[in-house]
Order: sequence, then C-alpha cells, then structure tokens
Amino acid sequence: MMVMDEVTAIKSLNKKGFLDLDVDPTLDLVAEINKLKKEKNAIVLAHYYQESEIQDVADYIGDSLGLAQKAASTEAEIIVFAGVHFMAETAKMLNPNKKVLLPDLKAGCSLADSCPAPLFKKFKEKYPDHVVVSYINCTADLKTLTDICCTSSNAEVIINSVPKDKGIIFAPDKNLGAYLKKKTGRDMILWNGACMVHEIFSHEKITKLRVHHPNARFIAHPECEAHILENADFIGSTSQLLKYTKENPAQEFIVATESGIIHQMQLASPEKVFIPAPPNNTCACNDCPHMKRNTMEKLYLCMKHELPEIILDPVTIEKGKVCIDRMLEISAAAGFKA
Ligand code: 13P
Ligand code: SF4
Repeated sequence: MMVMDEVTAIKSLNKKGFLDLDVDPTLDLVAEINKLKKEKNAIVLAHYYQESEIQDVADYIGDSLGLAQKAASTEAEIIVFAGVHFMAETAKMLNPNKKVLLPDLKAGCSLADSCPAPLFKKFKEKYPDHVVVSYINCTADLKTLTDICCTSSNAEVIINSVPKDKGIIFAPDKNLGAYLKKKTGRDMILWNGACMVHEIFSHEKITKLRVHHPNARFIAHPECEAHILENADFIGSTSQLLKYTKENPAQEFIVATESGIIHQMQLASPEKVFIPAPPNNTCACNDCPHMKRNTMEKLYLCMKHELPEIILDPVTIEKGKVCIDRMLEISAAAGFKA
C-alpha cells in the first residue's frame, strides 16, 4: 500500500518532473540500485555527461549513438535512462512495449528546445525536395519530420549517405551543421539552433591557457562554435574524444565539452592531466544543467517506484522511429558498434 507521502509525490510529478521523496541518507544507494536492477530486470544506460557516481553504477556508459544502439539491442525489461529527455524518448521509440524511465522528466536540452516542430514544419515546406537530417538532440515530434537522424559520431557518414544531387536541411545545431558543411563540402540549409554548454567557451581564455600548457592537446566537440573548432587539434563526439585521449601520447589535454566526460578520461588514463576548457563567464565549470538534474537519489527513487516514465503516443512512435532506424542501419553498415 502506498503511504500518503508517495501519493503526493506522484501527483506532483508533472509539475516537478521527479519524485520528490525523502531518501534515507544512510542508505547505500549503489547497493540499492544494483539490487533493483536485478529484481526488476532493468538496465541503467548513462551518458558521459552524467555525474561520476551515476556513471559508476551504470551498466553501459556511452555517447548518444552508443546509447541508442544499446537501447535497441537490450533484452532488459526496463530501461532506466540516466541522460536527458530526447535520449529517453529515442529509447522508447525503439522499445514501444518496454518501460523507459528518466529520473527527472525536466532533464531537457537547449538544442532540442531550439527547434519546435510546428516552426520547423513551416521552414521545411520552403524546401520540399530536400532531405531532412536531424541531430538526435531533438524532440520526438521533430523526428516525425525527419528523414535520417544522426549523432556527432556518425554525422559525416550520414550526410555522405545522401545522394549528391539531393539538397539537405540540417537541424537543429547550426554549429555541428557548419562543421559538417566544411567536412563534407555539402551546401546544407541549417536551422539556427545551438547547445548552451558548447557555445560558452572563451577563445581568449583558451589561448591564454595554451600558452601556460604548450604541450597540451586542445580537443573539442563539434557542437562548439567555428572559432573554437578552428583552433582544435582534434574534433570529435564524446566517445571519439575519449578514444583520442587514450591513444594520443600527450600528457595534457584541454577539453572543450561538458565536464562529465573527464571522469572516464581520467579513469582510462590516470597519469594524464585533463583541463576543462574555460567558459566566457566567471563560473569555472562546463556542466550541462539538464544532464546534471539527474542525481543518485532521483535514480534510486525512479527505479524503486518505476516513475517518471516516458509516454509517447503510438503515431509519434511509428513516424518518429523511421529516421532512427535509418540511422542505425547506416551506422551498422559503416561499422559503428556500441
Ligand atoms: P554525443 O553524445 O554524440 O557526443 O553528443 C553530446 C551531447 O551533447 C549529448 O547531449
Ligand atoms: Fe543538450 Fe547541450 Fe546539454 Fe547536450 S550538453 S543535453 S546538447 S544542452
């Protein structure tokens, strides 16, 4: 039987986005989460931008592509997504009959928010012959208006899969879009969206930092602005940046992406030094406020009560899944594995 506190917390879910229940501070959350995984046949998938404790308790940690591939192949009955809303929605579209949980429904994404589907629909009507390629960082509704999805790992391969005589609309990230135009030589129509975390890096401060660390490699995510990318020694998705730091002999790296990735970089190369690229404000951190809404307490509560759950209507799932399936097919053929 549910106690009154639980009933109130469940009722306020829509407003708060998470189960606002007290958690006994003496509870061993790692042990409890591992117990719940077994009891419920649940898998915890975590993005590299999650806080380190969540990464450590996850069954799989990855970038957006790896997470989508893992969600598509898991046999677990419940998928617990330690990431943001569009990622959990993607997992739900791939698993309409499974329960997909997100510890905090308000863990959104500024990029996804920057491209509302009704506005995009009008924009798309201006280019009726164009193929729509959308970055996976978009809403389920936008996916219903998309031909092929991509992530930062496979974007170049996806763009190159579109016949050369076809025009392309790329949404919603104008920075990734501009980078891809340069890399592929394709003249794409770009939607004017951006990620709040990757637009904050200061070129001036990075330049000063490099003077003090002359042997450091400067590595950046392609969601960063062009003037930051121009100076990078290496550009890649989170998993590609991680791989680069493992394989490159340099001992110091200045990292221009969300700081959560540094946890895995440091675990893989304990002897190396990782410096978060400085943002253009007084704050010293590059945290994504959406990603960091998830906490161990919220993860535990969400697994215990199986709430909040991602609910999508069947028509959105059917229409939106087509572009994700297409992306997964092209990625598998190109050798991308989770
Ligand atoms: P990747 O996971 O593709 O590196 O993208 C990073 C990101 O911003 C996810 O929100
Ligand atoms: Fe969205 Fe940027 Fe946060 Fe990724 S880091 S979830 S793109 S706001």
